[in-house]
Amino acid sequence: MISAVEVSKQFPASRQSPVHALDRVSLNVGEGEFVCVVGPSGCGKSTLLQLLGGLEAPSSGRVARRAGPSGIPWASYVFQDFGLLPWLTVRANAAFGLRMTGVARREAERAASTWLERMGLEEFAGAYPDQLSGGMRQRLALARALATGSPVLLMDEPLGALDPQTRRLTQEHLLSLWQTEHKTVVMVTHSVDEAILLGDRVVVMSARPGRVTDVFTVPFPRPRDPDVVDTPEFGRLRARVWGRLRSQAAGEAGASP
Ligand SMILES: Nc1ncnc2c1ncn2[C@@H]1O[C@H](COP(=O)(O)OP(=O)(O)OP(=O)(O)O)[C@@H](O)[C@H]1O
Ligand SMILES: [Mg+2]
Repeated sequence: MISAVEVSKQFPASRQSPVHALDRVSLNVGEGEFVCVVGPSGCGKSTLLQLLGGLEAPSSGRVARRAGPSGIPWASYVFQDFGLLPWLTVRANAAFGLRMTGVARREAERAASTWLERMGLEEFAGAYPDQLSGGMRQRLALARALATGSPVLLMDEPLGALDPQTRRLTQEHLLSLWQTEHKTVVMVTHSVDEAILLGDRVVVMSARPGRVTDVFTVPFPRPRDPDVVDTPEFGRLRARVWGRLRSQAAGEAGASP
């Protein structure tokens, strides 16, 4: 569904030398696959998502995307800062992605209300984002992304602001959602457990400039039982991913600022 070949990204810096965010990253994501990306802070994970979705152009290399159904945006995003619009109600925020594709307000809000309900936000449809808790804002961002019906979902730390219990419940929710919706998902997360629980593959990136250092295939079958996290096999995979991530983070700590 998405194929990134030798993609590099440099940002022009305002004062010092340019920031080399990504270095020759190659990644293929199959249709209906759930890929999780982990890596040290600042290694270019958000940049990679933006390149995959076409929000940013690579400095070199190339990203190819297989076309999806016409009339529906190819990808929806859940941004790291949620990207909610404070002047719109919860209902209008949830419908915003669809409205942008030219869907009439009433129809967009009807489609969005299904997702508000599934995310437990229907009571707050008339409220504004700043009246919601962090976890509710996050669920609203998810509802908005899912309401568009896009075949591709690009999520940047979508569960990072949730408390542990809500996070665990939302992970289980995402797990069953993915089972029914069959979307192609690329999700950035700082949680190794979350990456293994949800993903078909876990991509580990190096400290900046971000490169792909390892790709782990997650062996657990679908539909996946959330209790798989308590199995010894899960523990072994967690240790392997952590081991690679730790050595990348050590590289980051040793790098010059
Ligand atoms: N629009 C931009 N202009 C200039 N530099 C940028 C821009 N976006 C990102 N960068 C730089 O590129 C590097 C990678 O940033 P990015 O946000 O992709 O990292 P990240 O892995 O998502 O980090 P985190 O885990 O903290 O979210 C950083 O050094 C950042 O300062
Ligand atoms: Mg980021």
